[in-house]
Amino acid sequence: MTSDREKAKRRIRELVDLISYHDTKYYVEDNPEISDYEYDLLVKELSELEESHPDLVLPDSPTQRVSGKPLEEFPQVEHMVSMLSLDNSYSAEELREFDTRVRKWLGGGRPEYVVELKIDGLGIALMYESGSLTRGATRGDGRVGEDVTSNIKTIRSIPLRLKPEGGLRTVEVRGEVYMPTEGLRKLNREREEAGEPPFANPRNAAAGSIRQLDPKIAASRPLEAFFYTLSYSKDPMPVTHGDSLERMRKAGLRTSPHTRRFDSIEKVLEHIGSWEAKREELGYEIDGMVIKVDSLAQQARLGSTAKNPRWAVAYKYPPKQMTTRLLDIQVQVGRTGTLTPVAVLEPVQVGGVTVSHATLHNEDEIKRKGVKIGDHVLIERAGEVIPQVVKPIVEKRTGKEREFRMPQTCPVCGSKAVREEGEAARRCVNASCPAQVKERLIHFCSRDAMDIEGVGPALIDQLVDKGLVSDASDLYRLRKDDLLSLEGIAEKSSQNILGAIAASTDRDFDRVVFALGIRHVGKATATALAEEMGDMDKLSSARIEELAGIEGIGQIVGSAIRDFMDDPRNRALLDKLRRAGLKMEGVRRATGPLSGKTFLFTGEMGSMPRSEAEAAVQALGGRVSATVTKATDYVVVGKDPGSKLEKARASNKKILDEDEFLRIVGKK
Ligand code: IVH
Repeated sequence: MTSDREKAKRRIRELVDLISYHDTKYYVEDNPEISDYEYDLLVKELSELEESHPDLVLPDSPTQRVSGKPLEEFPQVEHMVSMLSLDNSYSAEELREFDTRVRKWLGGGRPEYVVELKIDGLGIALMYESGSLTRGATRGDGRVGEDVTSNIKTIRSIPLRLKPEGGLRTVEVRGEVYMPTEGLRKLNREREEAGEPPFANPRNAAAGSIRQLDPKIAASRPLEAFFYTLSYSKDPMPVTHGDSLERMRKAGLRTSPHTRRFDSIEKVLEHIGSWEAKREELGYEIDGMVIKVDSLAQQARLGSTAKNPRWAVAYKYPPKQMTTRLLDIQVQVGRTGTLTPVAVLEPVQVGGVTVSHATLHNEDEIKRKGVKIGDHVLIERAGEVIPQVVKPIVEKRTGKEREFRMPQTCPVCGSKAVREEGEAARRCVNASCPAQVKERLIHFCSRDAMDIEGVGPALIDQLVDKGLVSDASDLYRLRKDDLLSLEGIAEKSSQNILGAIAASTDRDFDRVVFALGIRHVGKATATALAEEMGDMDKLSSARIEELAGIEGIGQIVGSAIRDFMDDPRNRALLDKLRRAGLKMEGVRRATGPLSGKTFLFTGEMGSMPRSEAEAAVQALGGRVSATVTKATDYVVVGKDPGSKLEKARASNKKILDEDEFLRIVGKK
């Protein structure tokens, strides 16, 4: 072995350990020690070394988190120790009975209880051999689950190697994969924008993501994990459940910070009561608490029934479910013509919110659930998600309920509504259908698209109904008199609206791409398209294979783009938008150490003009923004900074002075 190679090998090991250390600090302990920038440099150094020495890539390298081809299906795995489920209880009384049973079986010994949050996600079992993650499996039916290792590895809070501190080497640990509420909200927004059905609750979202055959898709989902059971160890097991949790934590496995131990069931009950309201602030959903006997010896004495351990029980909070009447089913027409049946409900309070509508997705879903108009139905509101109809209460039927028939024509324009093969949705074929036109305009003007303030659904309704606007390009030809002819628009607001429309011609190319409302093209896809294609000419003439070759875009999205671009009406629209002055090309971004980072400048720089500083960021792959937003990573402060500095401080952005900035871009 040459000494160069040896050096590379040593450095690769060092970097993998270092990055894994910082991953734990960031993802598990929520207490980073280095800046994102310094972290990125480590990853970059590692990737480069690995690129020049592909045979030295370590299996636990962070670059290997997303790897491997999509699978045909998941292999089945038999669990070493059966994955039981928990017996549920719903009242203080039932918990006291659990305690009485436990004490009786233990023959007088006084148990201590550990109380944990019951995370609403998907149960998983991970195998570590000699400290390395070798397998991740779903619970399945408890005896046989699915091998989802490649997807499990994409979750950054799951360590690929255990730290030696916990003394855990060859072990099986169990925990829950879940999707935080905010991540789910964002994912559902993107799905709806792309014309896909949203996930009904975080549990479905986590399960749907972990059971994706393509690890790249799983990697794109905001998943996290908590661990709560040490189910097997080749070395001697700890003495208590609490010790297991502590050792898992030391090994770098993420454990809940909210776990507590109590010596009486009354204290347990008090604790559980205190969490009922607090659970709203967690940022993820829990559906209850889990009470476990702490001593593993006592657990062994208590044993299990065929299904549940006798040493643990779940306490379930009242679900965010209610029954109410389904008064009607209305059909809405979306931007791409999709007909969506919506349940009109007798208003009811669910988890503190009045619910009067719920989605029914599509005709198959209504059939599957067997709901009829006039039924009493069970509805559920999980997390911040749109309420769902769970099922009809068949026992309450009077015989007067009506079967719902999906219309074969569009309820708005009367055109044919067709259902293509393999699709769940029926769509109105008329692209000039006023409902579609309005929805497309609402999307075009929305915050994430062209961000035209003041042009919302109510105004768009009027503009379309009066024949003033029939596509987005018409917005740019509106005159003051047009607006003044509308209800509720006076001199001042007409000026504001025209100003907002004119200002939108400054929006970047990726927003223009998103604003077009192409089927399946959500925000992230639009940005990827804008960056890869660079301009509208290239985008509109790209072949499906070319489009499908872009990271995150597949055949379905590729052909949706092609279909859109092949439609002469859309070509005409693009021409008109170009003439209206919209940006039809983007700044092609270089890739480099600052890829994915957004910088903002305020105040004057001493050593170079602002434009030069911005160019330096862009040359290294970074972006520059004009306002402090969520996306802003660094705020560079020069002499006499403006109000942006205050805003940056208030939102906890990283602030750099000129010297620090110059070092980052390598000019010092
Ligand atoms: S212990 C034999 N602890 O709830 C007991 N489970 O039906 C094994 N869950 O399948 C589970 N949070 O997926 C345990 N802190 C927690 C939990 C938890 C969520 C899930 C788990 C299990 C289901 C119980």
